[in-house]
Amino acid sequence: MSILFIIMILQIVALNNAQNIQCSYKPPNKDEVMYKVSNPNPNQHKRSLKANNIRIKIHYDSTVSNLPEEKSNIVKAVFPLAVDYWQKTLMVRNSVPVLRLSPTCRAKEIVTKNGVRCCLFGCLKRSRCGEVYIPKDHLQRCKQTLLFSNNHCIPSGPNQGKGLSNTDFVLYVSSGQTDRCRDGNTFAYAAHCQLEDSMDRPIAGYINLCPDLLGSGTPSHVISVFLPTIKHEFLHALGFSVSLYAFYRDQDGRPLSPRLANGDPVYDNKMNLYKWSDKIIRPVIRNDWQVASGNISRVFNMMITPNVLREARSHFNCSTLKGVELENQGNYGTAMTHWEKRILENEAMTGTHTQDTVFSRITLALMEDTGWYLVNYSMAEDLAWGKNLGCDFIEKSCFSWIQHRLLSQSDPSPYCVRIKSHPLITECSADRKSMAVCNLVIYDNPLSLEYQNFINIPGLEHNGDSNALAHYGGSVLLADYCPFIQEFIFKVDKQSKAFECQHDENMPPKKENFALEYYGQDSTCVFHSRRWLKSDCNKIISWYHYGSGCYKIFCNSTALYIQVLNYTFECIYQGQNISFTIYSDGYNHRGGLICPPCFATTLCNNNYQYCLTTTPDDAQFKLNRVKHNLPHHSVVTCRSEPTPIYLLSQKNEIIVIFIITRMFYQFWGS
Ligand SMILES: *[C@@H]1O[C@H](CO)[C@@H](O)[C@H](O)[C@H]1NC(C)=O
Ligand SMILES: *[C@@H]1O[C@H](CO)[C@@H](O)[C@H](O)[C@H]1NC(C)=O
Ligand SMILES: *[C@@H]1O[C@H](CO)[C@@H](O)[C@H](O)[C@H]1NC(C)=O
Ligand SMILES: [Zn+2]
Repeated sequence: MSILFIIMILQIVALNNAQNIQCSYKPPNKDEVMYKVSNPNPNQHKRSLKANNIRIKIHYDSTVSNLPEEKSNIVKAVFPLAVDYWQKTLMVRNSVPVLRLSPTCRAKEIVTKNGVRCCLFGCLKRSRCGEVYIPKDHLQRCKQTLLFSNNHCIPSGPNQGKGLSNTDFVLYVSSGQTDRCRDGNTFAYAAHCQLEDSMDRPIAGYINLCPDLLGSGTPSHVISVFLPTIKHEFLHALGFSVSLYAFYRDQDGRPLSPRLANGDPVYDNKMNLYKWSDKIIRPVIRNDWQVASGNISRVFNMMITPNVLREARSHFNCSTLKGVELENQGNYGTAMTHWEKRILENEAMTGTHTQDTVFSRITLALMEDTGWYLVNYSMAEDLAWGKNLGCDFIEKSCFSWIQHRLLSQSDPSPYCVRIKSHPLITECSADRKSMAVCNLVIYDNPLSLEYQNFINIPGLEHNGDSNALAHYGGSVLLADYCPFIQEFIFKVDKQSKAFECQHDENMPPKKENFALEYYGQDSTCVFHSRRWLKSDCNKIISWYHYGSGCYKIFCNSTALYIQVLNYTFECIYQGQNISFTIYSDGYNHRGGLICPPCFATTLCNNNYQYCLTTTPDDAQFKLNRVKHNLPHHSVVTCRSEPTPIYLLSQKNEIIVIFIITRMFYQFWGS
């Protein structure tokens, strides 16, 4: 049989890992933060202070208004959504009627004997929060003292501003092309800049959005990547920060970390950080940490505050869990200021954005454990990653998890072992909302010992050669190179194609819809059982990549159905292979799908009890019945086999049209 294969060549370029964009949180220096900022509070002495939803004000710096309109519109559309989320989620007790920030001292700050804080030689003309100048309206009056003045503290300079009413926290938003933006990887960064005096709660912070990386992508991309990034940065300013841990308080408002006589926590000059107590973070040593070369000993820094512990134990279903690991890689902004990516992959407060960002109960619990906030847990988003996987998942290495699963011939999910290759064999994300790939790649250099996670990879020739296997790892460094299933997009020039099934803008044009996919509200990712081919009497064409696609799925009380064009295929059992040829638009489309489990789609939620519970015998019976009911497909029959190979060169132009350089691109927000 002479079948002509025209394969559309898509060049897939994996972005070099160094180009991953990750959160570049940098703890502010001690002198960049104003501590113990005091505002008159008539309610201060009332015993039972009612908690109210936090009131957040956004102040846009002129650099935001000066952005191209398209970009500033995105900023001004997204920030209110982020504000709204945190206002609904967090509550504070110690509100003041009018919030005024402290101006920045020209030189040293001095605290007088009776506790008045005063600037030696007065205040700077303009005070900053991060890189943003604070409007004079937001400032208190300067209090100054002079050398040899016996610490007499006197008001000086302009009168206090009118302040911010109905405000518990003000965020200054800028979009300057700063040094930190110039590395090309940083999307945004944020931190607190002032803490109030009664509880050390942050009352002001800033965020800078790097203008070059701002505002590209589809509207759904803005919502799925930009918004969670802003919400993430917000939390660094509100409490999730290595430079705020030392200020955390217990439920009764007592400091958790030791304080000096003046009320400050102890400053560690070597780390450039205030020291936190081991009631907050504790190092835990694990001596039997399994990696490819055997058992090693590793130290993990764990957040052990009570609400975090409760939520994590319940999420992972591991009642003996000692704490939640903090990120170990990166500098002191990535490390220690995010959850460990290996164990909380798509949780919003991990250090890189990979996909489907979720603010889980664990992160909200940390906000509660600051002692500054009460939280509304019903605002938490559902985290599927690691749910109920038990202590083996959360307390052992991914090497150990993957090995055990492979030995028992079960799916190593949420990790994966399929090497990302050409052609790209795609998969489905865990929630089946998107096409995805396994991010297992080969590195030029061997990974360091603690990150070597393979003694064999199914299907790989090198098996047994530990030197060769040492080069394989997941593409996400912060996940300790553990490979996992990840969503992806194609990038063609400035266009990008994403593969979230429920977004109809991802629908390919008819001509390129090789696997007869459907994108829309009721679409779910389904695995292919074979490479899809489309043929007429001259040629057979196939898409270079295959493995999965998006299809309309629905259920009734007895079965799950997959719809392809106008044809409906019934699934009798999970894993069933459905093969067919469908004629449409002048081509025979030959394809195959693998029936998903019913829980793969929320659309079948209410019909769980009936869906795909068939026993194998039953299945065979029903299968026979279904076979008879298969719709009749009109298929083009050719008088002769598709014409021989010389057509390939004659039809060169087709190939040219489709030789599109596409970039395989993973998103790494901040
Ligand atoms: C390595 O640690 C695992 C537990 O994580 C244990 O079952 C195994 O026996 C250890 N292997 C060696 C060689 O000590
Ligand atoms: C908590 O969040 C839920 C869901 O958004 C909302 O209905 C409820 O009113 C919130 N509660 C408070 C006290 O804000
Ligand atoms: C949690 O783990 C226990 C045993 O460790 C198991 O019996 C139980 O079924 C698990 N719960 C869930 C919801 O997976
Ligand atoms: Zn971050």
